[in-house]
Amino acid sequence: MDITEYTCDVLVIGSGGAGCKCGIVASKNDQDVIIVSKGLTFKSGCTMLAEGGYNAVFGYVDEADSLQLHILDTLKGGAFLNDLHLVHELVLESPKRLIELESYGCLFDRQEDGRLNQRAFGGQSCRRTCFKGDQTGHEMMLGLKEEVIREGVKTHSEVMITKLLFDESHSKIVGAMGISLADSSFVVYHSKATVIASGGCGWLYPVTSNAVQKTGDGIVMAYDAGADMMDMEMVQFHPTGMVAPKSRRGVLITEAVRGEGGHLINTDGERFMINYDPREELATRDIVARSIYTEIQEGRGTEDGGVYLSVTHLPEEQVQTKLHTMVQQFKDVGVDIINEPMVVAPTAHHFMGGIRIDGNCESNVKNLFAAGEATSGVHGANRLGGNALADTQVFGNIAGVQSSKRAQETELENPDESEIKAEIDRINGIWSEGTFNPEDIKNEIKEIMWNHVAIVRDEEGLLKAQDELNALEEKTKDMNVKSFKEYNNNLITALEVISMIKLAKLIVESALLRKESRGAHYRIDYPEKNDKEYLKSFVLNKNGEVSTIKRGLFDD
Ligand code: FUM
Repeated sequence: MDITEYTCDVLVIGSGGAGCKCGIVASKNDQDVIIVSKGLTFKSGCTMLAEGGYNAVFGYVDEADSLQLHILDTLKGGAFLNDLHLVHELVLESPKRLIELESYGCLFDRQEDGRLNQRAFGGQSCRRTCFKGDQTGHEMMLGLKEEVIREGVKTHSEVMITKLLFDESHSKIVGAMGISLADSSFVVYHSKATVIASGGCGWLYPVTSNAVQKTGDGIVMAYDAGADMMDMEMVQFHPTGMVAPKSRRGVLITEAVRGEGGHLINTDGERFMINYDPREELATRDIVARSIYTEIQEGRGTEDGGVYLSVTHLPEEQVQTKLHTMVQQFKDVGVDIINEPMVVAPTAHHFMGGIRIDGNCESNVKNLFAAGEATSGVHGANRLGGNALADTQVFGNIAGVQSSKRAQETELENPDESEIKAEIDRINGIWSEGTFNPEDIKNEIKEIMWNHVAIVRDEEGLLKAQDELNALEEKTKDMNVKSFKEYNNNLITALEVISMIKLAKLIVESALLRKESRGAHYRIDYPEKNDKEYLKSFVLNKNGEVSTIKRGLFDD
């Protein structure tokens, strides 16, 4: 059997903002680090695509801003489902981590006096979002990449990790394994501590702003290893994705457009957000996405299923400098946003749910850490725009520090060989000429999720989704994975759909449990928030157990 083996102190799965930060910090703590990525290192995560900004309290634009206000905005935005400790960490650490980014070479935009500039973003009581035009994530990744290289962190591209490995006594994680995309050979990593930083799963939906690799593999791997999954029903739809042409559907149109003063307008010519929330375009994403959805459903949307987002009333210079990427993105498809409105509709954007972590970014599985969008807790039921980039750096840093500490206290141990064999057998078992095309199954998952588990949900639809996903799971036992070894996209897709169905089922299960509407989870059959019964997070695990964690600010 062709297996390549590697050894390191800290293994980081995922090379976006959280993974790179974690790798840098672990390396600075004298650990031998490998960052492994299913896509191309540095280029395949969602951080690279993040546009609008990074929330950090500096008070350089609005002097009234404070840590307390950022905490409160984050909790209100998350409908108080947030883990309070994680919110504190996010808010307190975020400014320091931004300054570190600048020390890596990132340069955020300045005011004339040289201090950082900060813009308005949804659900925030002050202008607190630091930015680099509308390419903030890109700027961050350039600096992080430089620092990863300076630190001598090893990076492995195009290796899909499929399984976490336990020691012989099954008490802790001692590495992970997967396959190389280049030749389908098996790869085994031996590590003292392992960090999942592989992001979310936007591709459960046909319309998403996410990078193409985001199929939730890391979250599901942790679930399979026994990690708790929390708040799985909480899926964020960013209010503004591109609508046309079809090939660009879902591509992010940054919240910075609204932060800079852009207006949302329906086909009656009405600036409609005032009918839904006094904060208008700068309400939280859950509210803006649902309002756009309602406008479209009620017949005030465009023919291609969107509403207008206009910056034509803003000074051209402001649009050209602050929203340069948007200008180019639309120019590419023949729209001049200086003079014409954009057409926008909600797009699957961020998972607030995921692996449950403690304040050290450790899961309930020993030596398994996680950071970034693969985790849950910090954003509660709805994430504020600009809090994700901060999340990557704050929790990437904590995961780096804590995984290093663990690695320093730990000896390398052999994995349970029978698990390696079982995973090889599983993957070889998929390697057959069955009936169903994995790409077709992926498309079916997306349709099910879009039809029944998207912006508006109800019991009937969720149960239907459950049945349909179960039927689809049967099809995955008979997939057609043609047997060429180099870049066998069918094999990778087959492995992804197996994870995606598991993840989709967890989302549905959690959505059925929450018989109320809160944040991103809107149940048309239970349209009100019900704090009395549901101010709690649902935690699921692979044994089918369901537990809850009480939330909110005060004990009763
Ligand atoms: O709209 C945006 O620029 C996205 C930012 C975010 O998701 O935080």
